[in-house]
Amino acid sequence: TAGEVAEELGYKVYCVGGFVRDLLLSYPNFDIDLVVEGEGEKLAISLAERLGGRVRIHKRFGTAVVIINDDFKIDVATARTEYYEFPAALPKVEKSSLREDLYRRDFTINTLAVALNPDRYGELIDYFGGRRDLEQKYIRILYNLSFIEDPTRIMRAIRFETRYGFTIEPDTLRLAQDAVERRMLGKLSYKRILQELILILSEPDPMPALIRMKEIGVWEYVLPDVDLDRADEGLWRRIPSVVAWFKERYHALYVKTWLVYLGAILALADQESREKFLACYPLDRQALKAVKEIEKAGMVWQEIAAARDIKSSWLDKLINGWEKESLIYLLLLVREEKIWEKIVEYLDRKEKIKLEINGHDLRILGLKPGPVYKKILDELYLLKLDGIVKDKDEEINMVK
Ligand code: CTP
Repeated sequence: TAGEVAEELGYKVYCVGGFVRDLLLSYPNFDIDLVVEGEGEKLAISLAERLGGRVRIHKRFGTAVVIINDDFKIDVATARTEYYEFPAALPKVEKSSLREDLYRRDFTINTLAVALNPDRYGELIDYFGGRRDLEQKYIRILYNLSFIEDPTRIMRAIRFETRYGFTIEPDTLRLAQDAVERRMLGKLSYKRILQELILILSEPDPMPALIRMKEIGVWEYVLPDVDLDRADEGLWRRIPSVVAWFKERYHALYVKTWLVYLGAILALADQESREKFLACYPLDRQALKAVKEIEKAGMVWQEIAAARDIKSSWLDKLINGWEKESLIYLLLLVREEKIWEKIVEYLDRKEKIKLEINGHDLRILGLKPGPVYKKILDELYLLKLDGIVKDKDEEINMVK
């Protein structure tokens, strides 16, 4: 459809970047990026009309996003074109503008494009040897200054390398190491380093990438005081399955797995480096809360392990209101089946149980309104968590 719309508008449109790369690798990818030789904005608007979606326009970047059904997105960017400067040489210049757009990118494997206009539909465009590098499994930059211009690319190279089981091509690796030695990563803001770290921690198995970061000297710029060799491999390995289990059991759609990994990493640091990290890196409120809870999780777990009788109401006092990621981390620490079951029992009840009576009922029962209401209802809730009070009648009887 994009090709047809472009044709009608007299533009050329290409599908580019990660989507094409992953298509050739048979790796799942649902983010479609289009580059338009023409006005990206206009194409996005027509495309949205045709597909029944909405458009969000980012004027400053010359990009637009077409959103269909709230979850399927197509990014549309305008290729820089020198049309007005060289009107006579239009076809050539238009062609070179896609090329130029692709040349600015990070690695050859990300420079592949597929033509979408009807006359060339499906034609693979490979200006920089991306296909060959996909076959040889190489991460290769396009020009020597690439890492100097954008040092985050060093972290991206590592991420792609471990995601696909590729290798950073030797010259590229040398240039990456050069850039690290020239302290280029020190020029990045904490925000950008954090963004890249989060992307790495969002990969299915981030540990190899972290080790590679250490090898190349990148880790020093991220969390110099954390010794990755001390990571508890068993715990680390169980993270994906415990996250998956938790999401299913508690119908939790959005669990930030990266946050569980980050918590596990920060748990390896001492108090001082942890505080330094939190002071520098701009985590949002929820992430900050989770990290702090995870910090306490070790002690909380010990307390739970030492308790003779683990009641839900008691657990509620310890971990009520914890973020999902912190609860997952706590569960990861537990190795004893009995304790695991107790915590899960608590979480199950927490999800299901609600008090059936409220302030209105207390008034009917003849109690004078005041702060005592909250106290009664809170107490009642804890009794219900422990299974002592089961239904509305029992709640009322208990109040009486
Ligand atoms: N890009 C770049 N330099 C960066 C970030 C991105 O050149 N520092 C380019 C890449 O060539 C990439 C494109 O911008 O193809 C889009 O970036 P992004 O969506 O981050 O990359 P994807 O390749 O889609 O990666 P992922 O699969 O992780 O989403």
